[in-house]
Amino acid sequence: MCGCGEPRLGWGHCAPSPMLLLSLLLSAAPFGLLGEETRQVSLEVISGWPDFTQNLLHIRAVGTNSTLHYVWSSLGPPAVVLVATNTPHSVLRVNWTRLLSPNPDGGLMVLPKDSIQFSSALVFTRLLEFDSTNMSEEATQLLGKPYPPYSLGNFSWNNITDSLDPATLSATFRGHPVHDPTRAFANGSLTFKVQAFSTSGRPAQLPRLLHTAETCQLEVTLIGALPRGNHSLFGLEVATLGQGPSCPSVQEQHSIDDEYTPAVFQLDQLLWGSLSTGFMQWRPVAFSQKQGSRESALPCQVSPPHPTVEYSLLKSSIVQAFFGSQNSFCAFNLTFGTSRGPGYWDQYYLSWSMLLGVGPPPLDALSPLVLGIMAVALGTPGLMLLGGGLILLLRHKQYSDYQSIN
Ligand SMILES: *[C@@H]1O[C@H](CO)[C@@H](O)[C@H](O)[C@H]1NC(C)=O
Ligand SMILES: *[C@@H]1O[C@H](CO)[C@@H](O)[C@H](O)[C@H]1NC(C)=O
Ligand SMILES: *[C@@H]1O[C@H](CO)[C@@H](O)[C@H](O)[C@H]1NC(C)=O
Ligand SMILES: *[C@@H]1O[C@H](CO)[C@@H](O)[C@H](O)[C@H]1NC(C)=O
Ligand SMILES: *[C@@H]1O[C@H](CO)[C@@H](O)[C@H](O)[C@H]1NC(C)=O
Ligand SMILES: *[C@@H]1O[C@H](CO)[C@@H](O)[C@H](O)[C@H]1NC(C)=O
Ligand SMILES: *[C@@H]1O[C@H](CO)[C@@H](O)[C@H](O)[C@H]1NC(C)=O
Repeated sequence: MCGCGEPRLGWGHCAPSPMLLLSLLLSAAPFGLLGEETRQVSLEVISGWPDFTQNLLHIRAVGTNSTLHYVWSSLGPPAVVLVATNTPHSVLRVNWTRLLSPNPDGGLMVLPKDSIQFSSALVFTRLLEFDSTNMSEEATQLLGKPYPPYSLGNFSWNNITDSLDPATLSATFRGHPVHDPTRAFANGSLTFKVQAFSTSGRPAQLPRLLHTAETCQLEVTLIGALPRGNHSLFGLEVATLGQGPSCPSVQEQHSIDDEYTPAVFQLDQLLWGSLSTGFMQWRPVAFSQKQGSRESALPCQVSPPHPTVEYSLLKSSIVQAFFGSQNSFCAFNLTFGTSRGPGYWDQYYLSWSMLLGVGPPPLDALSPLVLGIMAVALGTPGLMLLGGGLILLLRHKQYSDYQSIN
């Protein structure tokens, strides 16, 4: 997490130089002008037949020319398969006999196959815990000695039907270890709350990630579980499909604006391939209280994705069912907090959110407050210059729209 120097306004706004402001404003403006797209979003729980003890959550988001499918499941470790197609009519087919068999290849399909434009998957493999008790003052960035991790493939999960909320387009997977000899999860759980959106917007709750109808939000919460030390730090190990021999990269974007996520001037994203295929996006911050606030914010660190061969951890039926068994995987660790500052130990609560989506990742336009500060900083001549530039941009946009219609 990055702070900024002394000049602060409200909740930690910085005051950068006018030239920087001008270039940022000009580069941010065209994105702010993009129209909002809405989609017809439906959530469906698909139960296994004849075995009703398993279920899948299928999110289908239909646009004029495309359909996005997000399939979440807790068959094995929690996982999601995301598929984008170029038709509003593509459908998901599940063959439960195959999906639940030892060789699930072909148990999950999106048809017609040739409409698929992009597909990938995430698997949440392990919950990590580190002992940061004896970390020295200089080593606060280090996590400490790892405890044996919890393998999420060995968790048992609730029936998501009861948590399905069509009004908020959300559902929650709640799990705890099947074998829990120390009873650490007797009063605790790890939850994966999945939410879809039919239009763009921003939730009231921090980190207030900007979502679109192309995205799906995941909030992971650890609550009430007994830590194994007085100063335990937690983390999540995540695996994704590789692209041939290489792994997707994690990019950090910096901004001067923290209007929506106080004191966090960074946005991290993992991109599969080029900018317009698919992405995972998050603010490098987690919260140690239900009502997230600046005081309960913990930094979140990510390790670079690297190829992994620990297939036993990755045994996700839906991923194998859709992609087959010949895949390369990449894994990375997300870790939350430092030995100093707020932590899970405060209230036995930790939550972290991310967005998953296809197409170009949503980009924050500068907030009205920062624009106001800029206006003052730039003064009237600067504003006139900017205004002229914007009008030209708008004119140009209208003109090119007009051309493409003809
Ligand atoms: C989940 O709950 C619903 C209704 O409460 C029930 O119809 C369904 O069979 C249950 N599914 C599983 C997998 O237990
Ligand atoms: C949808 O497809 C039609 C026909 O191919 C095309 O004319 C139209 O521009 C497309 N609309 C969008 C929003 O891509
Ligand atoms: C589902 O898979 C099984 C086993 O591979 C196969 O015998 C069956 O025909 C499949 N069902 C459908 C509807 O394709
Ligand atoms: C931490 O340090 C104290 C004193 O140096 C020592 O007694 C204790 O065993 C250490 N704890 C751990 C978990 O290493
Ligand atoms: C779980 O909660 C109950 C009631 O609040 C309490 O009596 C019990 O000791 C707790 N168990 C553990 C392992 O913390
Ligand atoms: C953890 O906290 C308990 C209670 O405050 C204390 O008795 C114990 O010594 C602490 N353990 C360590 C390793 O600091
Ligand atoms: C994540 O951290 C754990 C504990 O330090 C380590 O064993 C594991 O190899 C790490 N995984 C990745 C993908 O870096």
